[in-house]
Amino acid sequence: MNRLWLLSGASRGLGAALARAAVAAGDRAIGIARGDSSAGETLRWDLSRPAGLAAAVAERLEQARRAEAPPSAWVLVNNAGLLGPIGERYGEDEVQAVLQVNLASAILLSRAFVDALSDVSAPKQVINISSGAATRTIAGWSLYSASKAGLEHYGRGLAAEQATAEHPVDVVNLSPGVIDTDMQAEIRAAGPKGFPDHDRFVGLQAEGALASPDAVAAAILRGASSRCRHAGATLTLAEYAGR
Ligand SMILES: NC(=O)c1ccc[n+]([C@@H]2O[C@H](COP(=O)([O-])OP(=O)(O)OC[C@H]3O[C@@H](n4cnc5c(N)ncnc54)[C@H](OP(=O)(O)O)[C@@H]3O)[C@@H](O)[C@H]2O)c1
Repeated sequence: MNRLWLLSGASRGLGAALARAAVAAGDRAIGIARGDSSAGETLRWDLSRPAGLAAAVAERLEQARRAEAPPSAWVLVNNAGLLGPIGERYGEDEVQAVLQVNLASAILLSRAFVDALSDVSAPKQVINISSGAATRTIAGWSLYSASKAGLEHYGRGLAAEQATAEHPVDVVNLSPGVIDTDMQAEIRAAGPKGFPDHDRFVGLQAEGALASPDAVAAAILRGASSRCRHAGATLTLAEYAGR
C-alpha cells in the first residue's frame, strides 16, 4: 500500500510483528530499537539515550518525502516499552530508563514526526501503544503504570494541538490487551513478592488467553487502514480495528 511505518521496538514482540505485517502488506517499515528489526529497515537506537534521535528520524522522513513515490500515508507507532522492576523498590537508573523509553522517547518521536511532516497532506497518524495499567491500579507496577498514564495524556494533548493544524496528525492511544511476548514471560518470572496479581498473569497463559503478536499486528493494520479520526481517544484493539 506504500504507507510508511515508523515503529519503535520492532526487534521483538508486538513491534516485530507489526514490521513483518507492514512489509507483507507492501508498506515500508523503519524500526527503531537496539536490535535489528524483524523486517524492513532498522534505525539502531537505545531509546534510553535519546540525544540525536529526533534529527536522525527527521532525516529518514525527509528522505522518504523526496522519494520518487512518496508514502501514501504515514504512521508512527510508539511501541517500545519496558516494564522495569516489578515490586515496590526501584532505583534512579530504573526510573530513568522506564520513563525515557516508555514516555520521553515517544514524545520525542512524535514531535519529530509531526514537525517533519507538517506540510504533508497525506493521512498521518500517531499510535501510542498503551496498557490497561495506564488507568487500572496494579500493585508492583507503579513505575510502568505512571509511564503509560503519561503517554496517554500526552496523546490527548498532542491531538488537541493538532486540531488546528492545516494538515493535522491524528492520534490514538491503543490498549492492545495481553499479548504473548517477552514482556509477559518477564511478568510470570517476577514471582508474587510485591506483586499480588502475579497468579492472575500466570493463569492468563495457562488458559491460553494471551493473543499472538501477529494477530494483534494484523488488527492494528486493519485499524490504520480506516480514515477514522480518533483525536487522542484511548481505544481497545477491537474498537480500533473496527470490529
Ligand atoms: N505484552 C503485553 O501483554 C502487553 C500488554 C499491554 C501493553 N503492552 C505494550 O506493548 C508494547 C510492546 O510490548 P511487547 O510485549 O512487544 O514487549 P517486548 O516483547 O518486551 O518488546 C519490547 C520492545 O521494546 C524495545 N525496547 C526496550 N527497551 C528499549 C531501549 N532501551 N531502546 C530501544 N528499544 C527498546 C525492544 O527492543 P530492543 O530490546 O531490541 O532494544 C523490543 O523491540 C509495549 O509498549 C508494552 O508496554 C504489552
